[in-house]
Amino acid sequence: MPLFDEYRPSQQRRPRQKDAQNGLCSFFNRLLTGEEVIRKSGPPNRVAVTFLPSAAKPQGEASRLSEGITQEKNLAPPLEADAILARLPESRRIGRTILVLEETGSTNDVAAQLGRAGAPEGTAVFAECQTAGRGRLSRRWESQARRGLWFSLLLRPALAQADWARLTTWAAVGVARGLEEALPGCRAAIKWPNDIYLGGKKAVGILCESAAGPGGYAVVGIGVNVNQTRADFPAELQERATSLRNASGGAPLDRHAAAAALLRQLDALYPALEHDFAAVVAEAQARSLLMGRTLTVHTPCETYAALAEALEPDGSLRVRCADGSVRRVAGGEVSITGWQ
Ligand code: BTN
Repeated sequence: MPLFDEYRPSQQRRPRQKDAQNGLCSFFNRLLTGEEVIRKSGPPNRVAVTFLPSAAKPQGEASRLSEGITQEKNLAPPLEADAILARLPESRRIGRTILVLEETGSTNDVAAQLGRAGAPEGTAVFAECQTAGRGRLSRRWESQARRGLWFSLLLRPALAQADWARLTTWAAVGVARGLEEALPGCRAAIKWPNDIYLGGKKAVGILCESAAGPGGYAVVGIGVNVNQTRADFPAELQERATSLRNASGGAPLDRHAAAAALLRQLDALYPALEHDFAAVVAEAQARSLLMGRTLTVHTPCETYAALAEALEPDGSLRVRCADGSVRRVAGGEVSITGWQ
């Protein structure tokens, strides 16, 4: 599927309507075994659930995050599902249900598990820490405990599945708007297809995955560096990665406010996925770091140099090669020549 980073074969079963009607909390609780529910609130269509790990993993335990980085989990206030929910409009689809896990492998896997079990569209799964966070092209994603927002959205867009690749562009624009709401005065740029840059450095990565077939679902995984300092990043990333905190003057940010801004903007833009996608593409192009620049395009089959010309109506990238030929790039990766 173009622009989607991974295709998962369908492993569907019919949605569990009865579970959804009888109470989403028990539905999620049964699915996410091994974790203790510490908070449940709201009627079934307004669920906020915060999960803690089993007693073997007390909060405050030092967790090894990556080479040379050890961090106390309790340095920052914990993420609370209720505190995000309280900042969202009643009518939303995205973030209609919010789960916060203390630790998991990858929130994309949890959201996919929920998708297979028939969980409602718009469910957002956050984790304070991911032990196997992944990025595009099978890269590892650093997910430091309580420093960022690591979350995945479960979606079932009312589009032909061939058009689900639009989610990549939608997510990039929605997240860019969310960052600008969270950080007034900042300008969020998009490095195609969906990395978000602040001040010339990457602050957000997005990983879209989908399962086709009847009852299929898409998962949009979003990793936002929020409160890292420069020293929190591994040495090899320090010149290329930033956080919202770094980009906005250095004071720690309230992750609940940032999470709510992102969910609000993604929700507000969701109808355009179906009804006004041309406007979403136009905004992605206006925010693009690539237009008019010379790129190196890496696809699974070849690597070549080309000039970035425009985004196509489906969100793919149109480039012009040195021999004048025009190509459409729908996957892989691009780097800006002479740039980091
Ligand atoms: C990239 O830049 O390559 C994409 C990074 C996506 C990271 C997020 S964090 C939440 C979700 N869970 C994952 O394992 N990955 C995504």
